[in-house]
Amino acid sequence: MTKGLFITLEGGEGAGKSTQLAYLRQRIEAAGIPLHVTREPGGTPLAEQIRALLLDHRDEEMAPDTELLLMFAARAQHLARLVRPALARGEWVLCDRFTDATYAYQGGGRGIGFARIAVLEDWVQGELRPDLTLLLDLPVAVGMARAGRRGELDRFEREQRDFFERVRAAYLTRAEQEPQRFRVIDAAQDIAGVQRQIDAVLSPLLAQAAGAPI
Ligand code: TMP
Repeated sequence: MTKGLFITLEGGEGAGKSTQLAYLRQRIEAAGIPLHVTREPGGTPLAEQIRALLLDHRDEEMAPDTELLLMFAARAQHLARLVRPALARGEWVLCDRFTDATYAYQGGGRGIGFARIAVLEDWVQGELRPDLTLLLDLPVAVGMARAGRRGELDRFEREQRDFFERVRAAYLTRAEQEPQRFRVIDAAQDIAGVQRQIDAVLSPLLAQAAGAPI
């Protein structure tokens, strides 16, 4: 069965994810490839409601396990209703964050063991993993300075510098563990420089798709 490509985009705060997501979308759509652009947590109406719970700042502090389980609850819904059907139809899915973010934020950031996250990953995803993960990496201080110029901060954005150092370290550990799936992009460069790096990864895939039988 023809299967679409599952691409995920990851990065810490202020890494320029939104800008590069728009760039990826434009490049893939210009190649005539049917594409869904989506995000986590979220991507379906119910999963977006779970996202709102996760990002809201409330008086009651959310326990790390609650946060972890809500991430995977949203993911289960998103996979069942959107991602798996699209991939089965041969469409490409471009997702703004996925399970590597759980390893980075709930694992690295909150201190939940990778092995426990892996149990949920296997349960919720079965064998499904992204085909390609682009990690926009940059020093935490640079990212926080960029992100700080935005409006009101959500529950994650309010975290302190050492939290984001652990998030970055966990992302880089994941990338080291799975070099065939990850491409680490130097996001400290200017936008054109980042896009050149993305092109180097994307162009061969687009050429391959253009040559592939429909
Ligand atoms: P966003 O700001 O990139 O849309 O992501 C929302 C926040 O959710 C971001 O701070 C990272 C966090 N997050 C996790 O903590 N775990 C996850 O599994 C995902 C997908 C996101």
